[in-house]
Amino acid sequence: MTYEEAKQVLEANGQAHVLQFWDRLDAAGREALLAQIAALDFKAVAELRQILSDSLSGHADEAEKAPMEPAPVTVLEGSERGELAAIGEKELRAGHVGALLVAGGQGSRLGFDGPKGCYPVGPLTDAPLFYFHARKLLALSKTYGAPVPWYIMTSRTNDAATRAFFEENQYFGLDRADVFFFTQGMWPALTTEGKIILDEPGHIFLGPDGHGGMLAALDRSGALEDMQKRGLTTLFYFQVDNPMVDIADPAFIGLHLRTRADVSAKVCAKRDPQEGLGVIVERNGRTEIVEYTEFTDEQKNERLPDGELRYKYGSVAIHVFSVDFLIHETHAGLPVHIAHKKVPYVDADGKTLKPASPNAYKFEKFIFDSLADAKVCSCLAFDRTQEFSPVKNAEGNDSPATCRADLARKWARWLNAVGVAVACDAAGYPSIRIEIDPAFAHDAATLARRLAGQSVDGTADILLKA
Ligand code: UD1
Repeated sequence: MTYEEAKQVLEANGQAHVLQFWDRLDAAGREALLAQIAALDFKAVAELRQILSDSLSGHADEAEKAPMEPAPVTVLEGSERGELAAIGEKELRAGHVGALLVAGGQGSRLGFDGPKGCYPVGPLTDAPLFYFHARKLLALSKTYGAPVPWYIMTSRTNDAATRAFFEENQYFGLDRADVFFFTQGMWPALTTEGKIILDEPGHIFLGPDGHGGMLAALDRSGALEDMQKRGLTTLFYFQVDNPMVDIADPAFIGLHLRTRADVSAKVCAKRDPQEGLGVIVERNGRTEIVEYTEFTDEQKNERLPDGELRYKYGSVAIHVFSVDFLIHETHAGLPVHIAHKKVPYVDADGKTLKPASPNAYKFEKFIFDSLADAKVCSCLAFDRTQEFSPVKNAEGNDSPATCRADLARKWARWLNAVGVAVACDAAGYPSIRIEIDPAFAHDAATLARRLAGQSVDGTADILLKA
């Protein structure tokens, strides 16, 4: 793209200010800015401007306000778990199951410089989040004798670093042919007036387009085609921040298949009304997840006569998708969510400033909005002490400290269950440090098999690796 072409397209779209510092840029700076302009989808930017102006003037989608109620949730009892697991295991053995990890977010709340999946959580080895996910996939492929191909969504800001990290760690023992990286799209942030923001004189501020951007990215990258070639029918979806996730849980897959669902969701009772979990509801006869930021305090605190929260269950962003449904959804437009955020910007002199309060609107699509298109969506309740302890904040709830403690408690429970006496305090926290490689054991039953005939000292640190 030439300067003239850039000027023309920017002027036609009311964004001429993007070139205001052109005279100050060197050749490389000019080239980089032109490349950014050429890569911008101006039709999409015009749509974002319209969405923003509708939202700011109160003309947003009325359908949002249709009445809603809590969605039905399956709680597995008795032999049901085993029956469903058998269905899921059959699918895994047939090699029909893949895994999809969304790891394109910026992890700004954690304050970690790098892809969040590189964050160390292993209590003894500092093993990163990616390690725990990868080793579970390795265990699955060994258990079921079929690969579980892994699709990992990155964004332009962390793609190279993520791939390099997998290389440095020899893919954590996985066959690299079964790991498929793909990159989501980026969108500019806009001012109240709908103007694109420069964060440096020659650079447009861009942010990932939300995990809903994965539909277009799966299509564009050839990942969907790869899934079809491999004969995958079912995809287990999860987030990078939770090392306790039970990847490709056979009972969850079994429920999804038995109910012929398009998409399924794992849900758990919220820790407290304010916990940052999407809420699972039914509206217009369809299941939906309403993001916690879009749920009012009144709705969060509403209680039933017995004192139970009316919207008790939160979605932890663990899903099963049918591949056919995902393919169908690549052609369906997901709604765009707007967030008022602090975005660095340049002043009239070209100096970069960090605002003290929100100054711009960021846009994201959420993959869980596709639930509203699902004819059947099955929700399965799970025990959060077993499967959910995300790393989101630097301190407090959902921090590295709480995550490591929850991992330690879980491993101590397994060890005690298989006869290794580990002393624990009243909260279940062990007196020793423990780390169990998921490829060594992914639950108490596998641990019992792996340790059969061995004596393990429960009074010294325990590191079990495959
Ligand atoms: C998310 C869910 C929330 C759920 C909670 C459970 C959203 C919008 N909300 O909240 O409903 O209850 O987790 O822990 O997801 N990501 C991308 N690309 C993006 C944005 C995010 O790949 O453009 C990935 C992140 O890397 C991460 C996941 O999506 O793996 C969640 O993003 P995050 O911003 O951390 O969401 P939460 O606010 O924690």
